[in-house]
Amino acid sequence: MAKPKTVYVCDNCGQESAKWLGRCPSCGQWNTYKEITIHPAASSPRESAADIVLSGKAKKPQPVLLRNVSATDVPRINLHDTELNRVLGGGLVPGSLVLIGGEPGIGKSTLLLQTVLSLPQKVLYVSGEESEAQIKLRADRIGQASDQCLLLCDTSLEQIFTQIKNTHPDIVIVDSIQTLQSESVDSSPGSITQIRECTAALLKFAKETSTPVIIVGHITKDGSIAGPKVLEHIVDCVLQFEGDRNYFYRILRAHKNRFGSTSELGIYEMRSGGLRAVENPSEMLISQNDNSLSGIAIAAAMEGVRPFLIEVQALVSTAAYGTPQRSATGFDLRRLNMLLAVLEKRVGFKLAAKDVFLNIAGGLRVTDPAIDLAVMSAVLSSNVDTPIERSVALAGEIGLSGEIRPVVRIAQRIAEAEKLGFQRFIMPEQNMKSLESQPKHIELVPVKTVTEALRALFG
Ligand code: TYD
Ligand code: MG
Repeated sequence: MAKPKTVYVCDNCGQESAKWLGRCPSCGQWNTYKEITIHPAASSPRESAADIVLSGKAKKPQPVLLRNVSATDVPRINLHDTELNRVLGGGLVPGSLVLIGGEPGIGKSTLLLQTVLSLPQKVLYVSGEESEAQIKLRADRIGQASDQCLLLCDTSLEQIFTQIKNTHPDIVIVDSIQTLQSESVDSSPGSITQIRECTAALLKFAKETSTPVIIVGHITKDGSIAGPKVLEHIVDCVLQFEGDRNYFYRILRAHKNRFGSTSELGIYEMRSGGLRAVENPSEMLISQNDNSLSGIAIAAAMEGVRPFLIEVQALVSTAAYGTPQRSATGFDLRRLNMLLAVLEKRVGFKLAAKDVFLNIAGGLRVTDPAIDLAVMSAVLSSNVDTPIERSVALAGEIGLSGEIRPVVRIAQRIAEAEKLGFQRFIMPEQNMKSLESQPKHIELVPVKTVTEALRALFG
């Protein structure tokens, strides 16, 4: 019998080496090499854990002519959750492997459990993290009951496949991939080799039986999925569940999707009875303040292909110490500094000796450059202590010479503002010609430069 082999594997990127290395030549991380033992028999491809289910079933693939391949619309499984369906590109594709990542406590298990409970299909929910009683408590909290949901609290991959073979589920959920352990690899759960082995076995199972598998993945401190890129390469879809834990909004984003667009976005609200899909995000992102506060501007932003209006709040005050403070929540600090420099140089406002604090309401992080104009307006409004009328919405990117640059999907932004009852919309002049029709209930104010925008706002 062949002797077990010892190799060294980088815990960060999965690079293998015959000897120990201090620094991984592939990802550059230090001290990440771990010794692992591979049993030759077990690691041969024939003995993959998925073969427990697949034994004898898998047919050998043959080459086919591309033009003979029929690709009628992929059938989708309706998950009875508008947001999740949309982010997946219209529902769950049979045979796909979906990874949901997110920080601990953000609500991944809640999202999956509540989805499962509303499905008529037979689902096997494998949990390596919680006990049956804990899951039952959560299901009670969500307040839905399903007689099609099977629970399995186990971490052994082989055991899980044996149970899959016995129960023939239509959908398999694994919470989480970091807790699974395969006997064929001699390393601890959560290590890169285990994660890779378990994911590959689940992928093989999903593809060959057309059973969709959804796995939960933890993310590391720097925000990437633990057991990082290897995992993201293997799966068909990577969804990221994010949000600020101090707020109750959660955003589900597609980072990779082999069956749909990655610009889709789902918004949820965490309630005492589970997650609720938010159909109209603008309404909750704008606080219902009265008119009289300065330093608030409403931006017509886009996240992916969804327009929504968000409130930008700024506070400008005289710096108490030598160096003025600049702080931004939900917005790129470097971009804020750039906008302040443009304000100094092109409009002549002296902000060098002022503290500037910026906050995007609702705990969202916005990367859409079209909110520049609202950021700048909020800063100025606070600086001169003059409120901006609450019936005004803004969109526009600001260039270094103080020009207002065009933004994408202007018609959608205008329509969203109009729908919410805004009366004036300050927008880049260059976007005017791309507009097909004039809106009826909102006045468009095209502007070319920051100075013009400020004149339109403050007279
Ligand atoms: P959980 O799904 O366990 O997070 P994850 O699997 O991503 O680690 O959810 C964690 C939080 O959600 C928990 O702190 C409590 C909260 N929660 C609610 O507010 N309402 C609910 O109905 C449920 C089930 C959870
Ligand atoms: Mg969980």
